[in-house]
Amino acid sequence: MAFVPTMGGLHQGHARLIAAAVTSCGGKGSVLVSTFVNPLQFGVDEDFDCYPRTFEDDCALAKQAGASALWCPDERQVYPYGTSEGWRLQAPARLTAHLCGPWRSGHFDGVVTVVMRLLGLVRPHQLWLGEKDWQQLTILRHLIKDFGLPVRVRGCPTVREADGLAASSRNRYLGDAQRTVASAFSSALCAIARDVCAGDVDEASAQAALHQQLREAGLEVEYVETVDPVTLQPARPGRSIRMLAAAVRCGETRLIDHVFIMTRSPIVAIDGPAGAGKSTVTRAFAERMGLLYLDTGAMYRAVTWWVQKNGGDPSSAPAVEALLEGLEVDLSPLKDGVQTVRVNGRDITDAIRDPEVTGSVSLVAAHPCVRALLTRQQQRLGERGGLVAEGRDIGTAVFPDADVKVFLTATPEERARRRAKDLEARGHAVPDLAELEAQIVERDRLDSTRDVAPLVQADDATELITDGMSIEAVIDALEDLFRFRVAEEIWPKPEG
Ligand code: PAF
Repeated sequence: MAFVPTMGGLHQGHARLIAAAVTSCGGKGSVLVSTFVNPLQFGVDEDFDCYPRTFEDDCALAKQAGASALWCPDERQVYPYGTSEGWRLQAPARLTAHLCGPWRSGHFDGVVTVVMRLLGLVRPHQLWLGEKDWQQLTILRHLIKDFGLPVRVRGCPTVREADGLAASSRNRYLGDAQRTVASAFSSALCAIARDVCAGDVDEASAQAALHQQLREAGLEVEYVETVDPVTLQPARPGRSIRMLAAAVRCGETRLIDHVFIMTRSPIVAIDGPAGAGKSTVTRAFAERMGLLYLDTGAMYRAVTWWVQKNGGDPSSAPAVEALLEGLEVDLSPLKDGVQTVRVNGRDITDAIRDPEVTGSVSLVAAHPCVRALLTRQQQRLGERGGLVAEGRDIGTAVFPDADVKVFLTATPEERARRRAKDLEARGHAVPDLAELEAQIVERDRLDSTRDVAPLVQADDATELITDGMSIEAVIDALEDLFRFRVAEEIWPKPEG
């Protein structure tokens, strides 16, 4: 079941959210929409009493968008002990210290409390929320991750009305004249983001300029801030994705909006030990997300194949270096899940999977000259971003500024089992499991102790242990990590 919690006053943004949830269920599940105006998330001077309560219209919109049911619980169902006697959760200060947090004291505590309660009552598989309230969405993602709740969070891009104003239940408070003033909000935000991305203005001046433009348009500015989309803390320099967000008052009505500032398309780095299934899942993940797939493991295999083919000794650095002159490794874009690997124009896609190559690739990949050559080639391929790369040192050496870093691993026992299956499927002889496991442990040792670019988990990588997970479940987990940082509205558009 997919669950779309709302406070009613449904609008086109909700319609898009519900329709996206319906599509994602693919006719197999049901989509429940709830409408509950949660008293806990309103401050004493806020608009709880006059918040739009439009039950009939909500029913019609939810039905039209494809919802299976609309649930309108009353306060006693949600808070059986009343609002002052029941449980209260507190959102951590690190997530509420910026953006709306300081301006709406206790608001996010009310949001996490109600959502936790609703999740307990509904027990959905998916929770759908709008990206417009990015801080809320991110705080809820942290809540679900940190408590290990078995629900996937899905966001949906901000829907804008004809004049650019982000769809919101509160827009209906605006009179005609205010509406004209309010439309300056999104246009100023988008224009500034364009200037920053184009390098025409630096971020600090952009914030000041935006502040001034909003004031001149007749809006009262609460904040203009640039934050990291995951930590919700001021964005560190060098981060490729930052969020420029603002809150204003137009008369009595409070409006929020944001844009993302990117220096390049996102890069996902997937590292981990050999045999953890990195290439299979990375390939499928790239296809699902429309990212380019940079299979660096295949590039190292290609060099190994080349060294062996030319009779070079894989363990001798001078012998290997002598063979690198003029070597061109080329990866084609994925087509039907297949990526062709070429060395100097020759297709060696199958040859690089040979056990002989597997046996020497660690030795060849440890030579500094090989690392330097392939790291340079990979960084060149990554300049524009929009790709996922897998290997052993992508998040540490090749793309230390990757937006999403994952350390994909599995226990040696599990990797030995997978390797045995793979060898069998390819018609090769299968050594016994204990022997395979010993080889894997030895390979891990070699990979993690070599001098150049050893296999280490980057400090900011998320570890994903895949024992017992299906390939599909691993890809879902990668997608969730990607969504955490990269809003759907800035996903790379697949080429062609
Ligand atoms: O975004 C909203 O409508 C509300 O904050 C939510 C998530 C339904 C909690 O009351």
